[in-house]
Amino acid sequence: MPFTLSFQYEPFDALLKKLSDHAEGVGIPEGFVANSSYWLVDDEAGIVGVSNLRHVLTPALRLEGGHIGYGIRPSLRRRGYGVEILRHSLAKAAALGLKRVLLTCGKDNIGSVRVILANGGKLESEEFHPPRNEVLQRYWIDLAHDGSD
Ligand SMILES: CC(C)(COP(=O)(O)OP(=O)(O)OC[C@H]1O[C@@H](n2cnc3c(N)ncnc32)[C@H](O)[C@@H]1OP(=O)(O)O)[C@@H](O)C(=O)NCCC(=O)NCCS
Repeated sequence: MPFTLSFQYEPFDALLKKLSDHAEGVGIPEGFVANSSYWLVDDEAGIVGVSNLRHVLTPALRLEGGHIGYGIRPSLRRRGYGVEILRHSLAKAAALGLKRVLLTCGKDNIGSVRVILANGGKLESEEFHPPRNEVLQRYWIDLAHDGSD
């Protein structure tokens, strides 16, 4: 789940300010980079999920985290929202000028693997990642692709 979910949400104005500061790269913690949060909202269900787009990669993000993290509310999973939130987040990444984005994912996280593949992810590498005690996969999604194949 994106780390921004752990932010204190009251007072709400302060949360909005913090999120917009993060997007501007203002006052962010050491080692972090400018990042934008997006909420997937359904008219009836309300907030469905959240994504976080890192504007640039650091060596640490290249290893784990990549450009985009996302999560869907547990009660609303397996309805296509995961594919949807990544699709919208990729459009935001393209608007930011990124030509390709890196996604990292636990190999056993079948839902996330399928979300990435459904959005055109190409597996670059996978290796055991001791801090998480699991095999991590890295996928690239090409945003410059014109869709004509
Ligand atoms: C991963 C996650 C975002 C998927 O969201 P979702 O809304 O359930 O995804 P979708 O409904 O779009 O499902 C996409 C595909 O994955 C499949 N899928 C989803 N969850 C699955 C699961 N637990 N087991 C097997 N398949 C699963 C769906 O059936 C669908 O299959 P299809 O390609 O045949 O259509 C969600 O499970 C989640 O928030 N997990 C916790 C946070 C997380 O892991 N984020 C990703 C970090 S890398």
